[in-house]
Amino acid sequence: MRITMIGAGYVGLVSGACFADFGHIVTCVDTDPGKVERLNAGAIPIFEPGLEEHVARNREEERLFFTTELADSVAEADVVFIAVGTPSRRGDGRADLSYVYAAAEEIARHVSGYTVVVTKSTVPVGTGDAVERIMREARPDIDVSVVSNPEFLREGAAIEDFKRPDRIVIGVEDERAREVMGEVYRPLFVNQAPVIYTGRRTAELIKYASNAFLATKITFINEMADLCERTGANVQEVARGIGLDNRIGTKFLHAGPGFGGSCFPKDTRALVETAREYDAPCRIVESVVAVNEDRKTRMAQKVVKACGGSVAGKTIALLGLTFKPNTDDMRESPSIAIAEALTAAGATLRGHDPEGVEQARRVMPDLDYCETAYQCVEGADAVVLVTEWDAYRALDLVRLKELLRVPVFVDLRNVYRRAEVERHGFTYVDVGRG
Ligand code: UDX
Ligand code: UDX
Repeated sequence: MRITMIGAGYVGLVSGACFADFGHIVTCVDTDPGKVERLNAGAIPIFEPGLEEHVARNREEERLFFTTELADSVAEADVVFIAVGTPSRRGDGRADLSYVYAAAEEIARHVSGYTVVVTKSTVPVGTGDAVERIMREARPDIDVSVVSNPEFLREGAAIEDFKRPDRIVIGVEDERAREVMGEVYRPLFVNQAPVIYTGRRTAELIKYASNAFLATKITFINEMADLCERTGANVQEVARGIGLDNRIGTKFLHAGPGFGGSCFPKDTRALVETAREYDAPCRIVESVVAVNEDRKTRMAQKVVKACGGSVAGKTIALLGLTFKPNTDDMRESPSIAIAEALTAAGATLRGHDPEGVEQARRVMPDLDYCETAYQCVEGADAVVLVTEWDAYRALDLVRLKELLRVPVFVDLRNVYRRAEVERHGFTYVDVGRG
């Protein structure tokens, strides 16, 4: 089939490359000419394991194209996906749908023949109805179906999640659209990926409910970690003890500095707003948003306490800046709130990250960025492990102690074992392990 992907970001680019790998002919359209130019030169603007090979192979086999021109690619397409950003609006946390609506209007002007238009970006319940209304107003004679097909891609595992999904959710309002979407995803049926065909609004809500539930699960174990610190229990063993109940499950029970990323923070805020709008407030998710925001800055207090109650005039080394490993994405990363709070408390900050420095500089220009983890800790008064990149899982503790001015190690991801670190002469602080 001929597919057009509007938006070549973390979601649109991965989805486009994977659809091309299924054998479809895919054109990714993006308004950012620089991004399109780099993609046409074979450069990948984001860090996502395996993406470079997928893009190169499918460009080589002429199944994947990049352009800023929407008109022609939409006219020829059987299916047009909208995967533009739906960031949180300043202030009220509602999803900014201006890019989605702009894309819908432009698509309406250029579609020819029956076309299925799919929202893949995470959009509030009812957005599909609005997209359809916008398109029919722009072109009363238009022959389209509007479908919801939310993505469940984790950054750093996006290709794996796309090709071996736990489920595919397709929100359709007519049979023609259902058949077309069946064709789009046919290659996945061989993996027996369960496909849920449902209504458009249900599909839109499934996405928010899924992310909000995962964010709730993380926030729950983070609060258990605080209780463990007071009661002398071990949160990793609590997580194991509850996770073996298959009604709970072992995933997403790692205590840490709070969740970040482009999805959980945005989607929880947007769901809270939608719920208020429909007079069905989600008070649990409201608490998750508040608790998570508060947690990130409270992690800075943990560092201050580990440094004896003040970081004024001290140098703190941050290892790991991205919101999670195996990505370069800094969106709402806990490191940002932690760095702000420590700077406000008078500390000088150094930072290292295997992939995120270029993105980090944009949001934290005043940090002193270092080439290696060891260079980062040299002469520092404490080292804080913020993001659990593999590169930080087996640091040479003898060398670390020699390089640090003061041997303080704050491990916000419980990567190390307290006994081993303390044996090397460190003051060791972790999250929820008694
Ligand atoms: C986005 C949403 O943020 C997320 O909620 C949804 O689940 C999937 O789409 P992401 O791909 O991370 O996720 O967004 P982003 O990285 O911001 O990429 C959006 C891309 O669309 C950018 O490359 C931007 O240049 C492009 N874009 C934006 C357009 O092509 N047209 C527009 O009008 C606006
Ligand atoms: C998430 C969802 O997992 C994915 O299904 C959806 O499509 C997009 O949003 P992503 O945001 O890429 O994916 O990252 P994820 O791996 O879910 O982690 C989100 C945040 O939660 C990260 O900041 C991570 O550090 C944190 N996290 C995750 C924890 O603190 N503890 C955990 O156990 C798991």
